[in-house]
Amino acid sequence: MSTYDVGVIGGDGIGPEVTAEAVKVVEASGVTLDITTYDLGADRYLRTGDVLPESDLEALQVHDAILLGAIGPPVGSNEVPPGTLERGLLLRLRFALDLYVNLRPFTGVPGAPAPDCDFVVIRENTEGTYAGEGGFLRKDTPFEVATQGSVNTRHGVERCARFAFELASSRPRQQLTLVHKTNVLTFAGDLWQRTVDEIAPDYPGVSHDYNHVDATCIYLVEHPGRYDVIVTDNLFGDIITDLAGAVAGGIGYAASANLNPARTGPSLFEPVHGAAHDIAGTGKANPAAAIRSAALMLDHLGEADAARRVTDAVQAFIRSTPDPSLSTAAIGDAIAERL
Ligand code: IPM
Ligand code: MN
Repeated sequence: MSTYDVGVIGGDGIGPEVTAEAVKVVEASGVTLDITTYDLGADRYLRTGDVLPESDLEALQVHDAILLGAIGPPVGSNEVPPGTLERGLLLRLRFALDLYVNLRPFTGVPGAPAPDCDFVVIRENTEGTYAGEGGFLRKDTPFEVATQGSVNTRHGVERCARFAFELASSRPRQQLTLVHKTNVLTFAGDLWQRTVDEIAPDYPGVSHDYNHVDATCIYLVEHPGRYDVIVTDNLFGDIITDLAGAVAGGIGYAASANLNPARTGPSLFEPVHGAAHDIAGTGKANPAAAIRSAALMLDHLGEADAARRVTDAVQAFIRSTPDPSLSTAAIGDAIAERL
């Protein structure tokens, strides 16, 4: 078994607690991690005004992988202006490290609205409305204008769609669904649809179809079993993966991998959930999503066997109908013991 050099950003709220359990479980799998922790997030910002200094970014760039807990100030806090940490830290990492695929797998858990679902959302992670295009005109006048455009490049859409086709071709059902809003977003949607149609012949085993994003919200609730691999833009992917998390068993189980598939730098692994400041420090946070994210990291690092064992241990733990009052650390221990 190898040792990997991993940067850990616990971040805000429950982030450090769930990340600690993820590290515990990875080490129980037999893979050794050489960890460097980073003090980044709301506390550091409020203490020093730093969001992501160049020196931290440079240091993060040389790790084998990065584990992140959660980023964001308490809801309603006016000490940190909206977007400061989200744009300045998390999105900056996604863009600077070229983490152009956000892979979010959903495997149902018992008791969930969709206990048997098994699909993956491939969310484009560096473009769309997240790119930062736009601004104000005549700010603070009665004639103020705010625009926030969606940036879609052929290069960005194609590399994401190719990743999704590759993934679909490796899965038993070999089925890909493009989710967009081509009936209204006739420029961006057209680029996405044409790109998918043009590269589809390179993957003859994969069948592909298209769903509008609003209809996808109905299908995710009423019949999520229809999906195998979904590919979609950044904002649609953000929204439908919260919904997918809820139907698959709750956001406490939803994992994500922010991938640089070209491997020009480290990829970043984080739960889909946020900082949940309301339960921080109470031991009530569910570390399953962080542990599942660490399994995605193991897989990316080439430790497929350890990844499978960790994923199976989480699944077996969930299926064992555990005592709902178990603490964050006790859940981590119970999953680690299964390894
Ligand atoms: C997510 C989060 C982020 C996003 C926020 C925290 C910037 O909601 O990873 O889904 O919108 O991408
Ligand atoms: Mn989100």
